[in-house]
Amino acid sequence: MNAIASEIVRDTGAVSAADLAKGGHFSGTIGDITTPNPRMVCREVNVWYGDKHAIKDVSLDIGNHQVVAMIGPSGCGKSTFLRCLNRMNDTIDGCRVRGSITLDGQEIYDKGLDPVPLRAQVGMVFQKPNPFPKSIYENVAYGARIHGLTNSKAELDALVETSLRKAGLWNEVKDRLDQPGTGLSGGQQQRLCIARTIAVSPEVILMDEPCSALDPIATAIIEELIDELREQYSIAIVTHSMQQAARVSQRTAYFHLGDLVEVGETTQVFTNPRHKLTEDYITGRFG
Ligand SMILES: Nc1ncnc2c1ncn2[C@@H]1O[C@H](COP(=O)(O)OP(=O)(O)O)[C@@H](O)[C@H]1O
Ligand SMILES: [Mg+2]
Repeated sequence: MNAIASEIVRDTGAVSAADLAKGGHFSGTIGDITTPNPRMVCREVNVWYGDKHAIKDVSLDIGNHQVVAMIGPSGCGKSTFLRCLNRMNDTIDGCRVRGSITLDGQEIYDKGLDPVPLRAQVGMVFQKPNPFPKSIYENVAYGARIHGLTNSKAELDALVETSLRKAGLWNEVKDRLDQPGTGLSGGQQQRLCIARTIAVSPEVILMDEPCSALDPIATAIIEELIDELREQYSIAIVTHSMQQAARVSQRTAYFHLGDLVEVGETTQVFTNPRHKLTEDYITGRFG
């Protein structure tokens, strides 16, 4: 550990996991929460479910053409924070979100802002692949129809093909586009859901443990795909797998009990964590 890092740990890392669990005070995120040229800027975001304070003053940039991984023990608020980024928490009764989140400078929680187009701009892929009970073609075409993105059948066909190609699924399904999406394997279904997300031209793609229901081969395919998608999109991924975070992300954010404890370059966070809580987690001491 270098001199600066050890000093910071002494300053702010004195608080232990046990102290925090008892309600001890957390003294602020370690590491650079900003990125040059961010796509989304989150500042002092707080989330409550009723009385439960699930996200506490979290500030973080989502970088352009970058994958940021969110890691931390179960229940630390990773999914809650991810859902803030496209206002998916709006749909949960009793959930309150405060703070500022902008997408390309526009406040996404502005009263006048319609969350429906926002959720196309900031698309989401879930843990369990959830294709609609429709054909492969319709799964991808659906959003484009709703948002009126194409003017003709030929245009829609082209969009479906492009989206399936970008999701690395075209060659496997091009001869059976009219068959149900639910008939595909788990890994194919997840790529279909990614194609569906891509079809409505997102800027940011949120992924909440997208591989946890998949076998290792399907996981490897999705991880490669994430790396390709980064060229065109900005990606925020929640994962419980530290190996996955290390493989797919450029930045890593470590959450603990609703606090963003540390954020930094992925290699730094995994090889030279600056906060004791991060170190304890990545060395397997808890979590
Ligand atoms: N819909 C909900 N209603 C009430 N509490 C919730 C809800 N969703 C999550 N929580 C609580 O918020 C905290 C963070 O949960 P979550 O964001 O799902 O964590 P993670 O994704 O890191 O496992 C947990 O204590 C969880 O029990
Ligand atoms: Mg979760």
